[in-house]
This record gives sequence, structure tokens and C-alpha cells, in this order.
Amino acid sequence: MEGCHYIGNQWVPALDGATIAVVDPSDAQPFSTIARGSAADVDRAVAAARAAVGETFDGEWGRLTAVQRGRLLMKLSNAVVAHHEELALLEARDTGKALRVARNDATALARYFEYYAGACDKLHGETLPFDTGFTVLTIREPHGVTGHIIPWNYPMQIFGRTVGGSLAAGNACVVKPGEDASLSSLRLAELAAEVGFPAGALNIVTGYGAEAGAALCAHRGIDHISFTGSAVTGSAIAHAAAERHCPVTLELGGKSPQLLFADADLDAALPVIVNAIIQNCGQTCSAGSRLLVERSIYDDVLARLATRFAALKSGPPAMDLDMGPLVNEKQFQKVRDFVAQAERDGIGVAARGTVAAEASTTGYYHEAVLLRDVPPGNRIAHDEVFGPVLVAMPFDTEDEAIRLANGTDYGLVAGVWTRDGGRQLRLARKLRCGQVFVNNYGAGGGVELPFGGMKGSGYGREKGFEALLGFTTLKTIAIKHG
Ligand code: NAI
Ligand code: MG
Repeated sequence: MEGCHYIGNQWVPALDGATIAVVDPSDAQPFSTIARGSAADVDRAVAAARAAVGETFDGEWGRLTAVQRGRLLMKLSNAVVAHHEELALLEARDTGKALRVARNDATALARYFEYYAGACDKLHGETLPFDTGFTVLTIREPHGVTGHIIPWNYPMQIFGRTVGGSLAAGNACVVKPGEDASLSSLRLAELAAEVGFPAGALNIVTGYGAEAGAALCAHRGIDHISFTGSAVTGSAIAHAAAERHCPVTLELGGKSPQLLFADADLDAALPVIVNAIIQNCGQTCSAGSRLLVERSIYDDVLARLATRFAALKSGPPAMDLDMGPLVNEKQFQKVRDFVAQAERDGIGVAARGTVAAEASTTGYYHEAVLLRDVPPGNRIAHDEVFGPVLVAMPFDTEDEAIRLANGTDYGLVAGVWTRDGGRQLRLARKLRCGQVFVNNYGAGGGVELPFGGMKGSGYGREKGFEALLGFTTLKTIAIKHG
């Protein structure tokens, strides 16, 4: 419902009635409103979540068995499948993403809930060897109420991975979606209520990061925070959480390298390398935004990539071209400024895509750009652009490739393209990042695969079973029975 949060299974306007316009990135025109949440709204949502989970897990949600939680999550997965096209269209309008990307997001969302539905009753502690006369056991307990700050780039996928994991572990959730992409989160909470989630298990408070987001992260009733977004905001959130010793999971994006060796299967590699940077118009935390190419094939690879980049087209989501528009004016300016500065620095543009004639001139369209011979010290070689801009540079030796790959503050993902088995494993061990893909990239999203960063890309893991460890806390019970 327009202009409302979703709290305790009900649509509620902001307590002060404030709203934010929802803008379509394909023409910059407003088409709806969301509530502009304040600390008072966050308070209300946290109270609803606490009541659902209960002070001693005795609330309506906290009392459910793992099997019952799993069945509810499976129903939610089925509801997403039933509303697949509706959700994809909503997301494409809200974020500007090409329709097939939005459809893929909806599919992944259903898959996250399915995966975590099945995981609920497989999460357990251990018994530990200890002194004679003792039995010691550990149990995995939910934190209680978890806060989730979600960005605008993959709202449904990130909702699935973070909320899916947290609900599976038995927490009640308060979600603050990106102010540019809140509609799918709101609809999902409504679907959750429809399939039987008790009031307060899943609450959505919309609004700006500095208002609703900051209030959520500072709230004493939040027992764990999961954040995906920029490094700067992640740092601010970790500081706020540290004030009250609240655990945090941070996924902060990257400048992920692809290492292309002369012995690689180029026909297999090149389409994947292109897709890894233009998918979602480059607004992907794990975008393969740096391409390191062995010098002997560098010119050939750049020529072949230039042909591909020149053919890339942007247009409105419904045209389902290679890319849609960027999400908002700020992102559009950021990408434009990065490319303009690189050109002023003398970096060569090897190729540029085009924007479809049908695209509105007021939309946030940015063509794909391939930059060549980028000096590793230049800002565009190590800062996250979050747009369809691929930075290419040559290397001479394996050691140099590793040095370049590890040579940014980030460490999220890397791709290694080589047929040499020894090199595959050597590099996989030496690259400082959370995921390494060999002769592929991204593995199609990989719901089952633990995901997260090293260094400036953050800490903690989401996706896969590993996420459940982060969404729980461990209690040790030592029983002396003689
Ligand atoms: P952001 O990190 O500020 O926003 C992400 C989320 O955090 C949004 O929901 C926002 O409302 C919230 N937020 C902002 N300030 C907050 C605060 N003080 N306390 C609590 N929550 C807060 O990112 P933004 O400004 O939208 O994008 C800037 C850059 O961040 C992008 O160009 C990109 O480089 C990076 N980014 C990375 C993402 C990733 O997937 N790792 C996702 C989105 C952005
Ligand atoms: Mg929007």
C-alpha cells in the first residue's frame, strides 16, 4: 500500500505521515510513494518483532519449532513462484533493471526461501568431550531481533539471502530496504503474512539511510545487524553497533578482478567476462570490474572485447536489452564522473556501447565502457564505480597477476581463467577474497555458496549454510552428573 510501512502484518503510515516519492529510473518520473520512516517508526517495528519472538522465545514466532518455521518458509517460496512475474515487473520498474535480470532475481528469491526452508531443522549444536562426570552440549539460538539494511541493486536477492537465513534461524526481522527500491520488500512482507507468518516476524520500515537506517542500527532492541552497501556506510553502521556490542555482518562490494591467462579458453571466457560487468548495469557488488590479461594475448583480447562492448545496448527494462538505466541520478553522475576523470587522466576508451533511441532522454542511461591500459595506481583501477565500466590492464607473470589482483582495498570475488590445474589451485589459494571462481564467474548466483568479503569488502558470510552460523549465537551447557 502506498506511503506505508509493513509492521506487525499491517500497513501503517509513518507516525508523522511523511512520505518519499518513488521514481522510475527509466524516465525519472515519480509513480508511487513510500513512507519516510523515523526513529519512532523503527521503535514500533522493533517492538512488534520483539513481541513475535518473545523475551524468552515464548512469543508466537519464537515458540514455533524448526519444522514449522521451515514449512512457513517453503510456503513463502511457493508464494514467490506464484507471484513471480508480478514481483519481477515491480522490481524492474523500481530499479530500472532489465526484465530478465528482475525475473532471475525473483527466481533466486524463491530459491533462497526454499534452501533456508530445508535448512531450519538441520541446524544444531554438538556434544563436547570434557571432564569425567560431565556432559557438555552446545545449542544454536537465534539472536532475537535482527536488523537488515538492504541496498537497491538486488533488493529481492539480498532480501532472500539475509532475511531467509535469519528467519530460518528463528529470529524476527526488521528490514530497512533501499529508499530507491523498497517496493518488493513491502510486497514480500505482505505475502509472508498471507502464507501464515505470525505478526511481527517480518517487518519493513522504509525511509532514508540517515533516518530510518541509522535509527535501526542504533536501536537497543536490535540484536544483530546485516548490512549490504557501501564501505563508508558499513563503517558508520559498525561504529553505531559497537556502542552497544551488537554483532554485524558487512558486505561492502568490491573491485573484483578476472585473471585471464594465455592458455584459457577465450571463447568460453569472453562472454562471461562481459556479462560479469554489464549485468544489472554494473551495479553488482561482485561485478568483475577489473580485467587482468596476460600480455601475449592482451591486444587480441581487447580487440575482441571492443567488438562486443560496441554492440552493447541500454534501454528501458521492458525492451530487455543488455542493460537498463542506472538506479538514480546520484549513481548516474557518479559513473559519468568516473569515466570523465579517467579520460582526463589520458586513459583510452577501447569501446563504448549505445543507448537505444526508444529510451527516454530523462532516464539514467549510461552506455557500457571498456577502458584499456589502465594504470593500476589510477583511481578507476581500484575504486568501485558501480556502473558498466570495465578496466583492463596487461600482466607479464603469474606473480604480477596476483599482486595486481590483490592490490586494492577490496577482496570480494575473483575469476581465474586458465587450463593449468596447478595454477588454478595456486591462485585460488593466493587470492585474498571470499570467493574464487575458476573458468567461470559467479556460478549463476549460487544460493548454496557462502558469500562475503575479506579486507574492505567486509566480514561475515551470507548464503549457504554458513550464514546460519552468523544468524545464531552459541550457548554452551555443562552438566555435572557425576
Ligand atoms: P549506501 O551504502 O549508503 O546505501 C545502502 C543502504 O544503506 C540503503 O538502504 C541506505 O538507505 C542505507 N543507509 C545509508 N546510510 C545509512 C546509515 N547511516 N545507517 C544505516 N543505513 C544507512 O549506498 P548508496 O549511497 O546507495 O550507494 C553508494 C555506493 O555504494 C554505490 O555507488 C556503490 O559503490 C556502493 N554500493 C554497494 C552495494 C553492494 O552491493 N555492496 C550496494 C549499494 C551500493
Ligand atoms: Mg526506485
